Amino acid sequence: MAGARGAMVAATAATATAPLPARGEDLPAHTLPGPVGIAWEDGLLTYVGPVDGLPQEPTIGTPDRGLIVPGFVDCHVHLPFVGWRADEFEARLAGASYRDLHGEEGGIYRSSRMLAAASDDDVVAFASAIAREMAAHGTTAMELKTGYGLSVEAELRQARLARTLARAAPQTCSVTLLACHAVPEGMRRDAWVRAACEELIPAVAADGLADQVDIYVEDIAFSLDDLEEVAEAAARAGLPLRVHADQLGPSGAAEAAVALGARSADHLNHLSETGVAAFGSASGTVAVLLPASTFILRADPPPVQALRDAGAAIAIATDLNPGTSPVCSMPEAIAIGCTLYGIEPLAALTAATANAAFVLGLDDRLGTLEVGKRADVVLLEGPSFAQVPYRPGHDPVLATVIGGAVT
Ligand code: NIG
Ligand code: FE
Repeated sequence: MAGARGAMVAATAATATAPLPARGEDLPAHTLPGPVGIAWEDGLLTYVGPVDGLPQEPTIGTPDRGLIVPGFVDCHVHLPFVGWRADEFEARLAGASYRDLHGEEGGIYRSSRMLAAASDDDVVAFASAIAREMAAHGTTAMELKTGYGLSVEAELRQARLARTLARAAPQTCSVTLLACHAVPEGMRRDAWVRAACEELIPAVAADGLADQVDIYVEDIAFSLDDLEEVAEAAARAGLPLRVHADQLGPSGAAEAAVALGARSADHLNHLSETGVAAFGSASGTVAVLLPASTFILRADPPPVQALRDAGAAIAIATDLNPGTSPVCSMPEAIAIGCTLYGIEPLAALTAATANAAFVLGLDDRLGTLEVGKRADVVLLEGPSFAQVPYRPGHDPVLATVIGGAVT
């Protein structure tokens, strides 16, 4: 029950160093030798340390088994959407590209039509079921994005649906207005960018419907000039910026995102050397890696080692969406990221918890195992976090606790 006292014990625990510095530095995770105990009250951690000092009887776990980690923070999620697009996946396997399918019949436009055709209740029911599935896979906080509205009214509706979903879901949710995702049919690109900047972003900010603003910079979507306009509108509205950058081709969006002080630049499959350098030590912009969409699209991986050598802070997220990443499991995203991008398991844990919390602006209250932070924790099969990427497809979650409630 939320708010109640609780305690967990396990053979060991792993977490990132805290507090996270403002620039989102890629902090090494470390393991706490065990047996380890944690306790919570009123949804907040009251104890993290040796099991001997545990202030109350454990309610979950055993001291000779398991690994306690902070709950996963999925910082790039396209919920709420409704309906899948498996036939597009099959078409890609038969030779079509993501770009080929992006049009009247398919891609983002198709998800937009499915959203428009569904009732509010149906959208929330579809998305809530996925949110519960994500909780079962250890996700305790996450982003929700718009971007399938494609008109001012429909984007506002999707943002309201995101806030409704946030109340229905067990997780802490942060809502992002993906103001520019696809140019609405029958509209010029510049006209939509103007509507997004002059009507949509101010309206969303006035009603408190979103916490961040995002834009998809790509040859099939929006330009670097559009990014600057959206960044200015977001700044006027007091909302942090996120950028879908260099996913299908190189555009320079990542370095522009860094220069504009964006919270993150995401995807980065075609990140240039200039882009890598931009993420270096002076940057407060996190490089969000989305390995599941790389895997599903069979895309080239981003230059992850170069990014990390440059000093970039990395986060790992699912990019859950019906087009490029129907993957809702953070353990799965971590597994693909470790193998495909060569990320060590404990660095992946930091990327999926503390750094991801920083991306969502939630690092003051969650993302690490610290007294005073939310009791958002996952009990995993041990003995080490390496088990998660080592056994893709296996469910490593023994229990998920969100705000002190076992879900
Ligand atoms: O992050 N590429 C842009 N947006 C999504 C995909 C959206 C869709 O295909 O529905 C992404 O991959
Ligand atoms: Fe995305």
